Amino acid sequence: MSPTVGVIGAGQLARMMIPPAVELGIELRVLAETEGESAGLAVTTVADYRDASSVVEFARGVDVLTFDHEHVPQDVLAAVVAAGIPVHPRPSALLYAQDKLLMRERLGGLGLPMPDWARIETAADLTAFLDAHGGRLVLKTARGGYDGKGVRVVGSAAEAADWLERGEPLLAEELVDFRRELAQLVARRPSGDAVLWPVVESVQRDGVCAEVIAPAPASAGRIADLAGDIAMTVAEQLDVAGVLAVELFETTDERLVINELAMRPHNTGHWSIDGSTTSQFEQHLRAVLDLPLGDTGCRDSWSVMVNVLGGPGSGSLTDRYAVALDAQSGVKFHSYGKESRPGRKVGHVTAGGDDLEETVYRARAASEFFRN
Ligand SMILES: Nc1ncnc2c1ncn2[C@@H]1O[C@H](COP(=O)(O)OP(=O)(O)OP(=O)(O)O)[C@@H](O)[C@H]1O
Ligand SMILES: [Mg+2]
Repeated sequence: MSPTVGVIGAGQLARMMIPPAVELGIELRVLAETEGESAGLAVTTVADYRDASSVVEFARGVDVLTFDHEHVPQDVLAAVVAAGIPVHPRPSALLYAQDKLLMRERLGGLGLPMPDWARIETAADLTAFLDAHGGRLVLKTARGGYDGKGVRVVGSAAEAADWLERGEPLLAEELVDFRRELAQLVARRPSGDAVLWPVVESVQRDGVCAEVIAPAPASAGRIADLAGDIAMTVAEQLDVAGVLAVELFETTDERLVINELAMRPHNTGHWSIDGSTTSQFEQHLRAVLDLPLGDTGCRDSWSVMVNVLGGPGSGSLTDRYAVALDAQSGVKFHSYGKESRPGRKVGHVTAGGDDLEETVYRARAASEFFRN
Protein backbone atom coordinates (compact mmCIF):
# COMPACT_ATOMS: atom_id res chain seq x y z
CA MET A 1 0.00 0.00 0.00
CA SER A 2 1.30 3.47 -0.75
CA PRO A 3 2.34 5.58 2.21
CA THR A 4 -0.27 8.23 2.92
CA VAL A 5 0.42 11.75 4.14
CA GLY A 6 -2.31 14.05 5.38
CA VAL A 7 -1.67 17.80 5.06
CA ILE A 8 -3.56 20.48 6.97
CA GLY A 9 -3.91 23.51 4.75
CA ALA A 10 -4.26 23.78 0.98
CA GLY A 11 -2.04 26.74 0.12
CA GLN A 12 0.88 26.77 -2.29
CA LEU A 13 3.09 24.74 0.06
CA ALA A 14 0.65 21.83 0.02
CA ARG A 15 0.29 22.32 -3.75
CA MET A 16 4.04 21.99 -4.28
CA MET A 17 4.06 18.71 -2.31
CA ILE A 18 1.86 17.16 -5.01
CA PRO A 19 4.49 16.55 -7.76
CA PRO A 20 7.00 14.76 -5.49
CA ALA A 21 4.16 12.76 -3.91
CA VAL A 22 3.15 11.59 -7.38
CA GLU A 23 6.75 10.76 -8.26
CA LEU A 24 7.34 8.76 -5.09
CA GLY A 25 3.94 7.06 -5.18
CA ILE A 26 2.85 8.72 -1.95
CA GLU A 27 -0.85 9.33 -1.48
CA LEU A 28 -1.45 12.93 -0.43
CA ARG A 29 -4.68 13.96 1.28
CA VAL A 30 -5.19 17.63 1.92
CA LEU A 31 -7.61 19.36 4.26
CA ALA A 32 -8.70 22.73 2.82
CA GLU A 33 -10.56 25.50 4.56
CA THR A 34 -12.60 26.33 1.48
CA GLU A 35 -13.15 25.08 -2.07
CA GLY A 36 -10.85 26.23 -4.84
CA GLU A 37 -7.62 26.67 -2.87
CA SER A 38 -4.13 26.35 -4.31
CA ALA A 39 -3.70 22.61 -3.56
CA GLY A 40 -7.23 21.80 -4.78
CA LEU A 41 -5.95 18.87 -6.83
CA ALA A 42 -5.18 16.87 -3.67
CA VAL A 43 -7.99 18.08 -1.41
CA THR A 44 -10.04 15.27 0.12
CA THR A 45 -11.77 17.25 2.88
CA VAL A 46 -13.05 20.78 3.25
CA ALA A 47 -13.34 21.59 6.95
CA ASP A 48 -12.31 23.95 9.72
CA TYR A 49 -8.79 23.04 10.92
CA ARG A 50 -9.72 24.45 14.34
CA ASP A 51 -12.37 21.74 14.78
CA ALA A 52 -10.85 18.68 16.49
CA SER A 53 -13.41 16.12 15.36
CA SER A 54 -13.16 17.19 11.68
CA VAL A 55 -9.37 17.03 11.80
CA VAL A 56 -9.33 13.62 13.53
CA GLU A 57 -11.80 12.26 11.02
CA PHE A 58 -9.71 13.63 8.14
CA ALA A 59 -6.52 12.16 9.60
CA ARG A 60 -7.81 8.63 10.18
CA GLY A 61 -5.98 6.23 7.90
CA VAL A 62 -3.01 8.46 7.08
CA ASP A 63 0.48 7.32 8.05
CA VAL A 64 1.39 10.79 9.24
CA LEU A 65 -0.25 14.17 9.54
CA THR A 66 1.71 17.29 8.59
CA PHE A 67 1.13 20.94 7.72
CA ASP A 68 1.07 23.67 5.12
CA HIS A 69 0.76 26.31 7.87
CA GLU A 70 1.34 26.47 11.62
CA HIS A 71 -2.05 27.72 12.77
CA VAL A 72 -3.61 24.44 13.96
CA PRO A 73 -4.43 24.86 17.66
CA GLN A 74 -2.60 22.64 20.15
CA ASP A 75 -5.83 21.10 21.52
CA VAL A 76 -6.74 19.95 18.01
CA LEU A 77 -3.28 18.42 17.60
CA ALA A 78 -3.58 16.74 20.98
CA ALA A 79 -6.82 15.10 19.84
CA VAL A 80 -5.09 13.73 16.73
CA VAL A 81 -2.21 12.35 18.79
CA ALA A 82 -4.70 10.83 21.27
CA ALA A 83 -6.38 9.06 18.35
CA GLY A 84 -3.04 7.32 17.69
CA ILE A 85 -2.20 9.21 14.49
CA PRO A 86 1.46 10.27 14.12
CA VAL A 87 1.93 14.04 13.71
CA HIS A 88 5.17 15.57 12.34
CA PRO A 89 6.45 18.01 13.30
CA ARG A 90 5.28 16.96 16.76
CA PRO A 91 2.92 19.41 18.48
CA SER A 92 5.53 19.88 21.22
CA ALA A 93 7.99 21.16 18.59
CA LEU A 94 5.46 23.02 16.43
CA LEU A 95 4.61 25.13 19.45
CA TYR A 96 7.83 27.08 18.93
CA ALA A 97 6.88 27.95 15.36
CA GLN A 98 3.40 28.97 16.52
CA ASP A 99 4.33 31.33 19.29
CA LYS A 100 7.25 33.76 18.92
CA LEU A 101 7.45 34.46 22.66
CA LEU A 102 7.77 30.78 23.52
CA MET A 103 10.32 30.46 20.70
CA ARG A 104 12.46 33.27 22.19
CA GLU A 105 12.29 31.74 25.68
CA ARG A 106 13.18 28.25 24.45
CA LEU A 107 16.02 29.26 22.14
CA GLY A 108 17.36 31.59 24.81
CA GLY A 109 17.45 28.61 27.15
CA LEU A 110 19.57 26.77 24.60
CA GLY A 111 22.01 29.67 24.51
CA LEU A 112 21.42 30.33 20.80
CA PRO A 113 22.16 33.83 19.42
CA MET A 114 19.14 36.12 19.23
CA PRO A 115 18.30 39.82 19.18
CA ASP A 116 17.60 41.39 22.60
CA TRP A 117 13.95 40.79 23.33
CA ALA A 118 11.31 41.17 26.02
CA ARG A 119 7.79 40.07 26.79
CA ILE A 120 5.50 43.09 26.66
CA GLU A 121 2.20 43.26 28.52
CA THR A 122 1.85 46.94 29.34
CA ALA A 123 2.75 50.34 27.94
CA ALA A 124 5.28 50.62 30.77
CA ASP A 125 7.03 47.40 29.62
CA LEU A 126 7.24 48.81 26.14
CA THR A 127 8.56 52.18 27.24
CA ALA A 128 11.24 50.51 29.36
CA PHE A 129 12.45 48.45 26.38
CA LEU A 130 12.40 51.53 24.15
CA ASP A 131 14.49 53.47 26.67
CA ALA A 132 17.04 50.67 26.78
CA HIS A 133 17.25 50.32 22.98
CA GLY A 134 17.64 53.77 21.51
CA GLY A 135 13.97 54.68 21.26
CA ARG A 136 12.98 52.21 18.52
CA LEU A 137 12.00 48.57 18.58
CA VAL A 138 10.35 45.87 16.53
CA LEU A 139 7.04 44.80 18.02
CA LYS A 140 5.49 41.46 17.09
CA THR A 141 2.29 39.64 17.89
CA ALA A 142 3.29 36.32 19.45
CA ARG A 143 0.89 34.33 17.29
CA GLY A 144 -0.75 34.33 13.89
CA GLY A 145 1.66 36.61 11.97
CA TYR A 146 2.79 35.93 8.41
CA ASP A 147 4.31 37.96 5.56
CA GLY A 148 5.12 40.81 7.93
CA LYS A 149 1.55 41.09 9.24
CA GLY A 150 1.98 41.14 12.96
CA VAL A 151 5.31 43.00 12.78
CA ARG A 152 5.84 46.75 13.15
CA VAL A 153 8.56 49.16 14.11
CA VAL A 154 7.46 51.50 16.89
CA GLY A 155 9.01 54.48 18.65
CA SER A 156 6.45 54.96 21.41
CA ALA A 157 3.86 53.03 23.38
CA ALA A 158 1.15 55.20 21.77
CA GLU A 159 2.02 53.76 18.36
CA ALA A 160 1.22 50.31 19.72
CA ALA A 161 -1.92 51.24 21.62
CA ASP A 162 -4.22 49.12 19.43
CA TRP A 163 -2.12 45.98 20.03
CA LEU A 164 -1.62 46.66 23.74
CA GLU A 165 -5.39 47.03 24.16
CA ARG A 166 -5.95 43.45 23.05
CA GLY A 167 -4.48 42.23 26.31
CA GLU A 168 -2.34 39.53 24.67
CA PRO A 169 1.38 39.47 25.42
CA LEU A 170 3.58 40.91 22.68
CA LEU A 171 7.21 40.38 21.73
CA ALA A 172 9.56 43.35 21.60
CA GLU A 173 12.89 42.98 19.82
CA GLU A 174 15.82 45.28 19.27
CA LEU A 175 15.81 46.68 15.74
CA VAL A 176 18.64 44.59 14.33
CA ASP A 177 21.12 46.44 12.15
CA PHE A 178 21.48 43.64 9.67
CA ARG A 179 23.67 43.41 6.60
CA ARG A 180 21.37 40.84 5.07
CA GLU A 181 18.84 38.16 5.90
CA LEU A 182 19.74 34.51 5.56
CA ALA A 183 17.79 31.31 5.92
CA GLN A 184 19.07 27.88 6.79
CA LEU A 185 16.85 24.95 5.93
CA VAL A 186 17.33 21.53 7.43
CA ALA A 187 15.29 18.34 7.07
CA ARG A 188 15.21 15.83 9.90
CA ARG A 189 13.67 12.38 10.28
CA PRO A 190 11.89 11.41 13.50
CA SER A 191 14.63 8.83 13.97
CA GLY A 192 17.25 11.58 13.98
CA ASP A 193 19.00 11.74 10.58
CA ALA A 194 19.23 15.32 9.32
CA VAL A 195 20.54 17.11 6.23
CA LEU A 196 21.18 20.78 5.44
CA TRP A 197 20.74 22.68 2.21
CA PRO A 198 23.21 25.48 1.62
CA VAL A 199 22.42 28.65 3.57
CA VAL A 200 20.57 31.15 1.33
CA GLU A 201 20.14 34.90 1.24
CA SER A 202 16.59 36.27 1.26
CA VAL A 203 15.53 39.78 0.42
CA GLN A 204 12.23 41.01 1.88
CA ARG A 205 10.17 43.90 0.59
CA ASP A 206 7.47 45.33 2.86
CA GLY A 207 7.96 42.36 5.20
CA VAL A 208 7.41 39.84 2.37
CA CYS A 209 10.06 37.59 0.87
CA ALA A 210 10.86 38.98 -2.60
CA GLU A 211 13.99 37.15 -3.79
CA VAL A 212 16.22 34.29 -2.68
CA ILE A 213 19.78 33.54 -3.78
CA ALA A 214 21.13 30.03 -3.21
CA PRO A 215 23.72 29.65 -1.88
CA ALA A 216 24.06 33.01 -0.10
CA PRO A 217 26.89 34.91 -1.81
CA ALA A 218 30.19 34.85 0.07
CA SER A 219 28.82 32.45 2.68
CA ALA A 220 31.24 29.56 2.20
CA GLY A 221 33.19 28.75 5.34
CA ARG A 222 32.42 30.52 8.61
CA ILE A 223 28.91 31.83 7.82
CA ALA A 224 27.75 28.52 6.34
CA ASP A 225 29.18 26.55 9.28
CA LEU A 226 27.58 28.85 11.81
CA ALA A 227 24.16 28.77 10.10
CA GLY A 228 24.33 25.00 9.77
CA ASP A 229 25.28 24.53 13.43
CA ILE A 230 22.44 26.78 14.59
CA ALA A 231 19.83 24.97 12.47
CA MET A 232 21.09 21.52 13.49
CA THR A 233 20.98 22.50 17.15
CA VAL A 234 17.41 23.81 16.85
CA ALA A 235 16.28 20.71 14.92
CA GLU A 236 17.81 18.32 17.44
CA GLN A 237 17.01 20.15 20.66
CA LEU A 238 13.39 20.84 19.66
CA ASP A 239 13.12 17.33 18.16
CA VAL A 240 11.75 18.65 14.87
CA ALA A 241 10.72 16.20 12.15
CA GLY A 242 10.19 17.45 8.61
CA VAL A 243 11.63 20.60 7.08
CA LEU A 244 12.71 23.34 9.48
CA ALA A 245 13.57 26.84 8.29
CA VAL A 246 15.64 29.04 10.56
CA GLU A 247 15.42 32.70 9.50
CA LEU A 248 18.61 34.54 10.41
CA PHE A 249 20.00 38.05 10.42
CA GLU A 250 23.64 38.53 9.47
CA THR A 251 24.61 41.61 11.45
CA THR A 252 26.95 44.35 10.29
CA ASP A 253 29.49 43.04 12.83
CA GLU A 254 29.28 39.57 11.26
CA ARG A 255 27.23 37.70 13.81
CA LEU A 256 24.24 35.52 13.02
CA VAL A 257 21.13 35.92 15.17
CA ILE A 258 17.89 33.98 14.88
CA ASN A 259 14.81 35.81 13.63
CA GLU A 260 12.21 33.05 13.66
CA LEU A 261 11.44 29.43 12.87
CA ALA A 262 9.10 27.70 10.45
CA MET A 263 8.46 23.96 10.63
CA ARG A 264 7.33 23.21 7.11
CA PRO A 265 8.63 23.96 3.63
CA HIS A 266 9.48 27.65 3.46
CA ASN A 267 9.54 30.37 0.81
CA THR A 268 13.34 30.53 1.05
CA GLY A 269 13.49 26.89 -0.07
CA HIS A 270 11.40 27.15 -3.25
CA TRP A 271 14.57 27.38 -5.34
CA SER A 272 15.27 23.75 -4.38
CA ILE A 273 12.51 22.45 -6.68
CA ASP A 274 14.63 23.34 -9.70
CA GLY A 275 18.02 23.93 -8.07
CA SER A 276 18.64 20.98 -5.73
CA THR A 277 18.77 17.23 -6.27
CA THR A 278 16.04 16.93 -3.62
CA SER A 279 13.47 19.69 -3.26
CA GLN A 280 12.30 20.78 0.16
CA PHE A 281 8.81 19.47 -0.70
CA GLU A 282 10.04 15.97 -1.56
CA GLN A 283 12.31 16.04 1.47
CA HIS A 284 9.50 17.09 3.80
CA LEU A 285 7.42 14.08 2.67
CA ARG A 286 10.38 11.74 3.06
CA ALA A 287 11.23 13.16 6.47
CA VAL A 288 7.76 13.02 8.01
CA LEU A 289 7.38 9.43 6.74
CA ASP A 290 10.78 8.61 8.29
CA LEU A 291 12.15 7.55 4.90
CA PRO A 292 15.82 8.04 3.96
CA LEU A 293 16.56 11.66 3.07
CA GLY A 294 17.72 12.77 -0.38
CA ASP A 295 20.88 14.50 -1.47
CA THR A 296 20.73 18.29 -1.03
CA GLY A 297 23.43 19.23 -3.53
CA CYS A 298 22.90 22.10 -5.98
CA ARG A 299 22.28 21.56 -9.68
CA ASP A 300 23.71 24.96 -10.59
CA SER A 301 26.39 27.22 -9.16
CA TRP A 302 23.60 29.74 -8.43
CA SER A 303 19.84 29.50 -8.14
CA VAL A 304 17.78 32.67 -7.95
CA MET A 305 14.12 32.61 -7.00
CA VAL A 306 11.87 35.63 -7.43
CA ASN A 307 8.35 35.69 -6.02
CA VAL A 308 5.49 36.85 -8.19
CA LEU A 309 3.04 39.01 -6.28
CA GLY A 310 -0.37 40.06 -7.54
CA GLY A 311 -0.66 43.65 -8.77
CA PRO A 312 -3.60 46.00 -9.24
CA GLY A 313 -4.49 44.53 -12.65
CA SER A 314 -6.68 41.54 -13.34
CA GLY A 315 -6.08 38.17 -14.95
CA SER A 316 -4.12 35.14 -13.84
CA LEU A 317 -0.48 34.22 -14.16
CA THR A 318 -1.26 31.67 -16.83
CA ASP A 319 -2.85 34.37 -19.02
CA ARG A 320 0.65 35.76 -19.43
CA TYR A 321 2.40 32.44 -20.03
CA ALA A 322 2.65 32.62 -23.82
CA VAL A 323 4.84 35.71 -23.82
CA ALA A 324 6.82 34.81 -20.69
CA LEU A 325 7.64 31.24 -21.67
CA ASP A 326 8.69 32.38 -25.12
CA ALA A 327 10.99 35.10 -23.79
CA GLN A 328 12.56 33.07 -20.96
CA SER A 329 12.71 29.46 -22.05
CA GLY A 330 15.50 28.65 -19.57
CA VAL A 331 13.65 29.88 -16.48
CA LYS A 332 11.23 27.72 -14.49
CA PHE A 333 7.77 29.18 -13.80
CA HIS A 334 5.55 28.08 -10.94
CA SER A 335 1.94 29.14 -10.67
CA TYR A 336 0.03 28.66 -7.42
CA GLY A 337 -3.32 28.55 -9.21
CA LYS A 338 -4.53 31.48 -7.14
CA GLU A 339 -6.61 34.43 -8.07
CA SER A 340 -4.44 37.53 -8.23
CA ARG A 341 -4.85 40.13 -5.50
CA PRO A 342 -2.50 43.02 -4.79
CA GLY A 343 0.49 41.82 -2.76
CA ARG A 344 -0.63 38.18 -2.73
CA LYS A 345 1.98 35.52 -3.54
CA VAL A 346 0.65 33.97 -6.76
CA GLY A 347 3.75 32.19 -8.06
CA HIS A 348 7.50 32.25 -8.38
CA VAL A 349 10.24 31.86 -10.96
CA THR A 350 13.64 30.20 -10.58
CA ALA A 351 16.70 30.67 -12.76
CA GLY A 352 19.93 28.72 -12.48
CA GLY A 353 23.39 29.44 -13.85
CA ASP A 354 27.11 29.82 -13.35
CA ASP A 355 27.22 33.62 -13.28
CA LEU A 356 25.39 35.22 -10.36
CA GLU A 357 24.68 38.57 -11.96
CA GLU A 358 23.36 37.03 -15.12
CA THR A 359 21.21 34.55 -13.17
CA VAL A 360 19.71 37.34 -11.04
CA TYR A 361 19.00 39.29 -14.22
CA ARG A 362 17.21 36.39 -15.89
CA ALA A 363 15.08 35.60 -12.84
CA ARG A 364 14.05 39.24 -12.40
CA ALA A 365 13.34 39.67 -16.10
CA ALA A 366 11.16 36.56 -16.08
CA SER A 367 9.21 37.73 -13.03
CA GLU A 368 8.54 41.08 -14.76
CA PHE A 369 6.41 39.31 -17.36
CA PHE A 370 3.92 38.47 -14.65
CA ARG A 371 3.41 41.91 -13.19
CA ASN A 372 -0.21 42.85 -13.55
N1 LIG B 1 14.25 42.46 15.22
C1 LIG B 1 14.22 42.84 13.95
N2 LIG B 1 15.08 43.78 13.49
C2 LIG B 1 15.06 44.21 12.20
N3 LIG B 1 14.19 43.73 11.28
C3 LIG B 1 13.30 42.80 11.65
C4 LIG B 1 13.27 42.29 13.01
N4 LIG B 1 12.31 41.35 13.08
C5 LIG B 1 11.75 41.28 11.86
N5 LIG B 1 12.33 42.14 10.99
C6 LIG B 1 11.98 42.30 9.55
O1 LIG B 1 10.61 41.99 9.36
C7 LIG B 1 10.46 40.80 8.55
C8 LIG B 1 9.29 39.98 9.04
O2 LIG B 1 9.50 39.57 10.39
P1 LIG B 1 9.12 38.09 10.87
O3 LIG B 1 9.89 37.14 10.07
O4 LIG B 1 9.27 38.01 12.34
O5 LIG B 1 7.59 38.11 10.53
P2 LIG B 1 6.56 37.12 9.87
O6 LIG B 1 5.43 37.93 9.40
O7 LIG B 1 6.31 36.01 10.81
O8 LIG B 1 7.37 36.61 8.65
P3 LIG B 1 7.10 35.51 7.55
O9 LIG B 1 6.78 36.28 6.32
O10 LIG B 1 8.47 34.90 7.48
O11 LIG B 1 6.04 34.62 8.03
C9 LIG B 1 11.81 40.11 8.67
O12 LIG B 1 12.04 39.25 7.58
C10 LIG B 1 12.76 41.32 8.71
O13 LIG B 1 12.95 41.85 7.41
MG1 LIG C 1 9.75 35.67 8.84
